[in-house]
Amino acid sequence: MCGIIGYVGKENAVPIILEGLHKLEYRGYDSAGIAVLNEDGFMVVKQKGRLSALEARIKDHPIRGYMGIGHTRWATHGEPSDINSHPHLGSQKRIAIVHNGIIENYRELKEYLEQKGVAFVSETDSEVIAQLAEHYYTGSILDTVIKVVSVLEGSYALGIMSIDHPGTLIAVKKDNPLIIGVGEEENFIASDVPALLAHTNKVYYLNDKEIAVLTRDKVQFYNIDREPLQKSPETITWSLDSAEKGGYEHFMLKEIMEQPRVLRDTIQSALGSGDNRRIIDSFDVAAFNKIVITACGSAYNAGMVAKYVFERLCRLPVEVELASEFRYKDPIIDSRSLVILISQSGETADTIAAMREARRRGACTLSIVNVVGSTVARETDYTLYTLAGPEIAVATTKAFSAQLALLYILAVRFAGKLGRISRQQEEQLLAEIAVLPEKAAEVLENIEAIQKYASTCVGYKSIFFIGRNIDYAIALEGSLKLKEISYIHSEAYAGGELKHGTIALIEEGTLVVAISCCEPLYDKIYSNVEQVISRGAKVLFLGNCIKAAPSEKLAIIPLPKTNPLFSPSLSVLMLQLFSYYVAANKGLDIDKPRNLAKSVTVE
Ligand code: AGP
Repeated sequence: MCGIIGYVGKENAVPIILEGLHKLEYRGYDSAGIAVLNEDGFMVVKQKGRLSALEARIKDHPIRGYMGIGHTRWATHGEPSDINSHPHLGSQKRIAIVHNGIIENYRELKEYLEQKGVAFVSETDSEVIAQLAEHYYTGSILDTVIKVVSVLEGSYALGIMSIDHPGTLIAVKKDNPLIIGVGEEENFIASDVPALLAHTNKVYYLNDKEIAVLTRDKVQFYNIDREPLQKSPETITWSLDSAEKGGYEHFMLKEIMEQPRVLRDTIQSALGSGDNRRIIDSFDVAAFNKIVITACGSAYNAGMVAKYVFERLCRLPVEVELASEFRYKDPIIDSRSLVILISQSGETADTIAAMREARRRGACTLSIVNVVGSTVARETDYTLYTLAGPEIAVATTKAFSAQLALLYILAVRFAGKLGRISRQQEEQLLAEIAVLPEKAAEVLENIEAIQKYASTCVGYKSIFFIGRNIDYAIALEGSLKLKEISYIHSEAYAGGELKHGTIALIEEGTLVVAISCCEPLYDKIYSNVEQVISRGAKVLFLGNCIKAAPSEKLAIIPLPKTNPLFSPSLSVLMLQLFSYYVAANKGLDIDKPRNLAKSVTVE
């Protein structure tokens, strides 16, 4: 996810664009850049690092122009660097673009252009758009843009300038947001409302493959067939702070709600033609006789879920180790071990140390990371990227879900490669994974019940989470989410373990959250529910195979059916929402919980 902005009007575009990029930094911040067009042609300043570094550079070397485009980047293809930063220009320096999205067929397009003698300078998918536009340019920038988008596959929100059309800014989108702002003798494009709200609250929302042609004095819209479109403007009534969170009160809730899209993008990258797919296709899992997953916090919990999936499908032993323990335990690994490291930030000190220990012992390392170019991503033998975009809230949600999706796909593909499942079984399992985004959306469209129930839970001093099999693994994540944002003590237990000590803690008024998505074990977990209720507990029962009827002590919230192996992707959404609404009702600083950091880069 990146942030783009564009301006054409009566003012110097530079300060307006830089100010707008600050409002979009939540969409990405590993590099930033700006291009303006003036009588001397394009002036481009772009570099790796935060926007403040770009501003300092521009302060030392001022540029100005009456129109321009700007970009703040969250790398998906090509690690953060000056040359991979946006804007991107074609080789002839006649067309400049900024792009938010993922071009899935960029390799084919790049090869086509290279065969035509086009020289690329970056590792990005986005540069293909600028090069293609120059290649197709026939004198009409509108016709050129129409031809370019007709061959692009994937998602995009584009701002485009042509040196041959000074004063004309073009915008087009597919699957990523793009807003047109209308001012007095000035017009704007932006990924999101906050970037332009200081200048206008009159906006148009572009629909997929609609094209906007902006000049200082007017905005025209066309469809992909070059037919003029009449669109109605909308008036923004949000506050600026609310707008940065997309209208949500906290980034965490916004990121919870982004999960269907994140799942779709991440699954597509591994099942479609993305980089993740190529790595998985070529991976020789038969070379290994052991899999070790090591990570911290929620990433460790993702590994606990994955253990059930890998062992069930691949019939290979899978150990899951806390990275902070793994690094000091003289682990039993060698060249026949595959060590999988999971990390949203790719900068967690314990996970980095575990990775280096694994490599020192000759193990093959594969990482699942959200931040392109991070230390873990750069130092492992193989890297699969979650396409969650920047995760601002300290408590991870969308990145965790994306980790699960990649782990499921890895397990299914490995099982196929090992001959543990048939081609047909593999396709069936992958098909079940492919519909998780829609099922996740279904869960997130029905949040009233959990919101209402959570509002009654703020007074608890301790809350227990129980589940059996894979439901126990996701209960670990539910418990961690609650602890880190509501500050309520919590523990997750395997349902069958209660009678071995923990049930002594259950007393009148104790709250237990039980999860049941493994139908064969329903009777077992329901027996645990009855045991704790008989000792005075209240139970919130989440699941997709619940047969019991609700009662004064038993609240039930259903979940959509799915393969039990993939059910954590749905149960975790309800667990995230439960923790969020408990913490929200306590009025806590949900996005920045006390004592915590988004990335623990120290031991
Ligand atoms: C999860 O909500 C926490 N923020 C924390 O446990 C986190 O998962 C852990 O610190 C690992 O971070 P990483 O994924 O960036 O390595």
